[in-house]
Amino acid sequence: MTGGSCCGRRITIAIDGPAGAGKSTVARLVARRLGYRYLDTGAMFRAVAWYAIATGCGVAGLTDRQLENLEIGLDYAADGTMSVTVDGRDVTGEIRSSQVTAIVSEVARQPAVRRYLLERQRIMAAGGGIVMDGRDIGSVVLPAAELKIFLTASVTERAARRAREMAVAGRATDMETLLAEITKRDSEDMSRAQAPLVALPTAWYLDTTGCPLEQVVDMVVARAEEVIRSVVQAV
Ligand code: DC
Repeated sequence: MTGGSCCGRRITIAIDGPAGAGKSTVARLVARRLGYRYLDTGAMFRAVAWYAIATGCGVAGLTDRQLENLEIGLDYAADGTMSVTVDGRDVTGEIRSSQVTAIVSEVARQPAVRRYLLERQRIMAAGGGIVMDGRDIGSVVLPAAELKIFLTASVTERAARRAREMAVAGRATDMETLLAEITKRDSEDMSRAQAPLVALPTAWYLDTTGCPLEQVVDMVVARAEEVIRSVVQAV
């Protein structure tokens, strides 16, 4: 039995942090180890950005009314791989394109977009047993999460990790462009009025610079198991 399912108590884990910190990879692997569900909220913002481009409505056209009929689907295969659909069309690869990345921070600033996604994210988290990653999960989406983590790494390391991921996916890039893109996105995500990225004092601040992925996952799972035990004892 894994610690996550121990005693039937399934907690909620919020992982926030800047672009390229490895949140999604860590969240997916931690969820798998605990037998929890995993939700990459950044992919939802990317799906809305893709929709703004594909429909031609643009960022300004993302109103409550326009979003009313938008259907974003997130599906997970047995190995944890996620696929994303917009109104039934598979956009898993396209939401990572440079066109989407270039406008996604602006999309994420739109109050109508945040309202639309907040409601869906809370519905998906209902019942616990979930690891959710993003920018405002611990602060806005799931403020009652039993474990909040602020996952970060130096900007150079984050750009290098992104470069490796892109190389694996066969996409051309260079470090200078990636560094500029990540720095710009960090600053936009931290300075916006709506649900900015913040390192909460109640979150575990985890700087993973120089730390191998497996070690980060082990540390998070160990901390989650501690929290699960303390929650069970407190009941
Ligand atoms: O994690 P990512 O790079 O896929 O996220 C894409 C963008 O979405 C990022 O620039 C900020 C935004 N975002 C957000 O504002 N709130 C979240 N909970 C998740 C992502």
